[in-house]
Amino acid sequence: MGTTHDFLERCDKLAVMGGTFDPIHYGHLAVAEVVMHKFLPRRVLFIPGGQPPHKPDLTVSDGEHRYRMTMSAVCETPGFDVSRMEIDRNGPSYTVETISALREICPPNAEIFFIIGADALMEILSWESAEKLLTLCQFIAVHRPGYEIEETYVENLRKNYGAVIHVLEGPRLEISGTEIRKNFAEGKPVGGLMPAVAENYARTHGLFSTQGTELSPARFEKVKSQLELRLSPRRFKHTLGTIIEAEKLARHYGADVNKAKWAALLHDCAKEFSADKKHTLCKLWCVPTDEIMLSHIDITHSLLGAESAKRQYFVTDEEILQAISRHTMGHAGMSLLDKIIMLAYFIEP
Ligand SMILES: [Fe+2]
Repeated sequence: MGTTHDFLERCDKLAVMGGTFDPIHYGHLAVAEVVMHKFLPRRVLFIPGGQPPHKPDLTVSDGEHRYRMTMSAVCETPGFDVSRMEIDRNGPSYTVETISALREICPPNAEIFFIIGADALMEILSWESAEKLLTLCQFIAVHRPGYEIEETYVENLRKNYGAVIHVLEGPRLEISGTEIRKNFAEGKPVGGLMPAVAENYARTHGLFSTQGTELSPARFEKVKSQLELRLSPRRFKHTLGTIIEAEKLARHYGADVNKAKWAALLHDCAKEFSADKKHTLCKLWCVPTDEIMLSHIDITHSLLGAESAKRQYFVTDEEILQAISRHTMGHAGMSLLDKIIMLAYFIEP
């Protein structure tokens, strides 16, 4: 299992949260936090699964992506960690194998809690080696929308299988991965449902949307209408003029016309952020600044524009981002596209 699980060798109290995490959302995080505070494990370990054995037809995103997206969402929380053990295992992931593997790594007599949704608990007897699993760890049962935890059923598991089951009276967040994936596909917002960092990860890797990050004419028009709302009429008019000039220059000098149009479209997307917002975002987005830039904060709008294009409009093309970042202050060794955007910006009527 390598160095990623070194801490487990000393972990005598562990809570495990399994799931596809496709994507990770506030429902998962809220439950994990309540478990952390109520049960006081040393770690809450998120384990993104491989292909779920009981849902063979379900298409899930690539395991590596789900691992990284989950890591991005939890790594800032003390005590939270993510394990690769299921995604690195080929084939279906059986919980009994995962918990057995953890038992072997953790100290003897370690307390292991497996966090389980009410819906999954009701089906647990159909799981691989269920009877063994029920004695391998303790369970923390969590309410799920539409599923009640039946006390008689839980009592049966306790009495007949020796299971230790804690029912968590905790958050009942009505968030589902299905709903979030649907929102992505339909271009609806998901910001209230999942952490921004995980959303950005999903968008920049086009996880849930076929029209996620590509530089298509349809997405160009969509971003253009977003900017029309967000920019002043004057700034939007300047943007339209810059697109026309950039397109002409790109054709004339043999540059990539589509990239020139995208760079022109977004070159001033951060221009009208307030001075306070520019200062804050320079710090938050780790934009390198110096004294002159900080005392003339408006000139950071080109660097912030490139960050905003990447983080908020999901442009991943490095040439476009560079051209946006250089359009105000220029740079040594500018590319053809850099020069076209800077020139278009100056000459548009
Ligand atoms: Fe500008």
